[in-house]
Amino acid sequence: MIFQSKNIKSYNNEAQTKFITYFEDSQLDKGLALDKGLPLDKEIHSKIKFMLDSEDFDCKNGQLQIINLFRNESPRNVILVGVGKKEDFTLDRLRKNIAKAVKEAAKSKSKSIDINIENLVSLMNLDEIVRTISEAAVMADYKFDQYKSDKKASTLEEFNILYAQEDHLENISKGINEGVILGQANILTRTLVNEPANILGPIELAEAAKKAGVESGFQVEIFDEVAIKKLNMLAFLEVAKASVKPPRLIVMRYQGNPGSKEEIVGLVGKGLTYDSGGLSIKPTTGMVTMKSDMGGAAAVIGAMTAITKLKAKVNVIGVVASCENMIGGNSYRPGDIIGSMGGKTIEVINTDAEGRLTLVDAVNYIIEKEHATKVVDIATLTGAVISALGTTATGVVANNDFFFTRLEQASKICDEKVWRLPAFDEYKELIKSDVADLKNSGGRNAGSITAGLFIGEFVKDKPWLHLDIAGTSWAEKNSDYESKGGTGAGARLLYHLIKQLEK
Ligand code: BES
Ligand code: MN
Ligand code: ZN
Repeated sequence: MIFQSKNIKSYNNEAQTKFITYFEDSQLDKGLALDKGLPLDKEIHSKIKFMLDSEDFDCKNGQLQIINLFRNESPRNVILVGVGKKEDFTLDRLRKNIAKAVKEAAKSKSKSIDINIENLVSLMNLDEIVRTISEAAVMADYKFDQYKSDKKASTLEEFNILYAQEDHLENISKGINEGVILGQANILTRTLVNEPANILGPIELAEAAKKAGVESGFQVEIFDEVAIKKLNMLAFLEVAKASVKPPRLIVMRYQGNPGSKEEIVGLVGKGLTYDSGGLSIKPTTGMVTMKSDMGGAAAVIGAMTAITKLKAKVNVIGVVASCENMIGGNSYRPGDIIGSMGGKTIEVINTDAEGRLTLVDAVNYIIEKEHATKVVDIATLTGAVISALGTTATGVVANNDFFFTRLEQASKICDEKVWRLPAFDEYKELIKSDVADLKNSGGRNAGSITAGLFIGEFVKDKPWLHLDIAGTSWAEKNSDYESKGGTGAGARLLYHLIKQLEK
């Protein structure tokens, strides 16, 4: 889909589908939509008027009214997009409702959409409005149908943003650019999550990172198993060793603020391309979606593309320790005592608590070798976070209030919800081992907190955020801008977090 801005004065209804954002509480906008900005022809004008005047007309927040004109000339249909009351307007409402309307337009095989944004400009910054509309459109137009024999490409080719005032043009262009890049980052993350583990293993994930780096302009270095052994990433290697697919350490580097080299933000993503549970094997029902256990890695790769393309003024390093958690004569076992790159010894209680083992070595690497001064790790880490927060919010463990506040601000911009979990010292008792420095499972109680705190043992007092996306990275059904399967959670959130750190 190509996004364009067009001045309404020289525009003559080129798009097949016309969106009109509809506010329940605004007579003015009824008027504006019908008369002022939009040169609508008589047929549409009278149809909309008839509809608005009819007794059972309703177009509340979340509702669409579709007027199909059954004709060849554009527009062929008009979609009133209910966005509720003006006073309740939020970008997320806009995002969700535009997404619904885009799906509707795609369903009717429309090739092009337009929307006049002049009735929105008084409500929010124009660049944010346009960013949200274009981001929503890109996200809504996504389908993972790569492996379907009867796949059909989306018909949507063009999205026109219409404006009346010439001085709006600059903000519109900025908004389009950001929205498209963020939408694409989100769907890249989804696609990587949706690719099955027989197609996408650690080598292929590393290749995908490389490709993303070449396309967007960040540097990528890939370490094979020999290089990983040299780095002494002992915990990571234990998890990886039963798989016939060798592990890869993926390092992505972007220097957006070369003048301040001492500040480096490290993003660490969990990159299990498959998690069978290992010898502590999962039941089939728990295993079917475990191709998604690299959702954190995919989020970091997606975020890196946006950070680079949008030239964030921050130095960022992304690290993924990617492998498969499998079963074989060479598997690591419950009861084993293993080492780690950071030197701490770990008693393995459960081979299904593998993510934290790969993550602690990646965190140690990013601090020791890449000199990260702040660390964020993002991981599909625990089923317990789904019990606690469902699929609505990402669970967070943090050791720094300032850093967490930045994450909350980022979260509000993109509406990827986060919730901070308590991290009292008492919880740390649960992961102490009798025979090693730590154990990799603290049992059922407070499972997401103890998992986070296990990683926290390796952050060396750096400001740190741990994001558990086990619930938010996967959707059981299609909804507004989401599609069944990977949600792309984290890509937009991490981008906005990095932007918050510019200031
Ligand atoms: N990858 C899983 C967590 C997960 C579960 C992600 C469901 C998405 C959906 C993780 O490696 C895992 O198996 N965690 C265990 C930890 C336990 C053994 C301490 C869990 O949550 O059961
Ligand atoms: Mn596991
Ligand atoms: Zn896992």
